[in-house]
Amino acid sequence: MMGKIRWGILGPGNIARKFAKGLSVIDDAELTAIGSRSKEKAAMFANEYSVATSYGSYEELVMDKNVDVVYIATPHPFHLEHALLCINAGKAVLVEKPMGVNAKQIREMIEQAQQNKVFLMEAMWTRFLPAIVKVRQWLAECRIGEVQMVKADFGFHTDMNPNSRLFDPNLGGGSLLDVGVYTVSFANMVFGISPSQVCGVAQMGETAVDERAGILFRYPQGQIAALTCAIRTYIPHNATIFGTSGSIHIPNFWRATSASLKLGDTVVDHFEQPHLSNGYECEAIEVMNCLRRGNLESAIMPHSQSLSVVETMDTLRSQWNLKYPFED
Ligand SMILES: NC(=O)c1ccc[n+]([C@@H]2O[C@H](COP(=O)([O-])OP(=O)(O)OC[C@H]3O[C@@H](n4cnc5c(N)ncnc54)[C@H](OP(=O)(O)O)[C@@H]3O)[C@@H](O)[C@H]2O)c1
Repeated sequence: MMGKIRWGILGPGNIARKFAKGLSVIDDAELTAIGSRSKEKAAMFANEYSVATSYGSYEELVMDKNVDVVYIATPHPFHLEHALLCINAGKAVLVEKPMGVNAKQIREMIEQAQQNKVFLMEAMWTRFLPAIVKVRQWLAECRIGEVQMVKADFGFHTDMNPNSRLFDPNLGGGSLLDVGVYTVSFANMVFGISPSQVCGVAQMGETAVDERAGILFRYPQGQIAALTCAIRTYIPHNATIFGTSGSIHIPNFWRATSASLKLGDTVVDHFEQPHLSNGYECEAIEVMNCLRRGNLESAIMPHSQSLSVVETMDTLRSQWNLKYPFED
């Protein structure tokens, strides 16, 4: 692909705004079109972010010949339908996290993308942040010895609103799929494989979705991950990786700008790099690099790992008897 890579956004909601801001600092990216279920809403977004074309339907957006890649920013239960719309129109796709609600959905997305030879990636933006790239480098260099444990927490407090996607089971509500996915994906990134043992406890709220959860994984070589997530409880968003000789500490790991490496109790290395915009530019740059190289998936956020993460979350939800109304 030569010249600027032309983006379309499908679903102009909260995260779409942040993504548009991130995209604006990439020289060879152009946000050319926006698609909403409402023509007025699309026009407002286009005006706010200087987007050339706005559509009052997702179908029109994916047919636009001036769009190379579509970023899907709708609530999780619609990711499959909207990804397939793009894939069948031959558009590359970046799909918000979690890529799908369950493994069946993600398998179908991957199959269709492969059959149609279309690029597909989950927008797990954390993996592309420079601080997290540095953490992977430290791990590859065995700077903390043999990695044996991971701890990651992500909780925030929000007021109960049964109509919000965070609480509505019809919109895939609950803490695991909203923020727990960051912790599960982080453990997956560190160990590179699925856990062999998965146990979790969750507290269901008045809308029958998980409002908080405590999760433990054990891996085939004996490594352990301890994770928490919540949507009604503030839990600092920190991650720590523990090895035989040291540890790596990442404050606000899901949107990290820094990481520290300790040997014993002494900090021996510290990395810090502010976001160029808001951090979302990094995942967009990865997509664009893949498109220019002709790759159909990212080596940093491959299909297999998106699938592994959701399979693990399926196991947790089955332990909690949490099935969404739209799941058969
Ligand atoms: N990476 C991150 O940091 C991050 C942060 C927040 C959220 N997310 C992810 O991004 C996705 C969207 O989250 P959000 O908070 O941006 O959602 P949102 O604002 O509630 O919804 C996004 C848009 O989806 C469209 N939509 C299509 N069908 C819908 C339906 N049946 N009900 C409601 N909206 C529908 C709407 O756009 P139109 O009506 O205009 O078409 C809406 O504006 C989620 O999967 C979430 O996990 C990621």
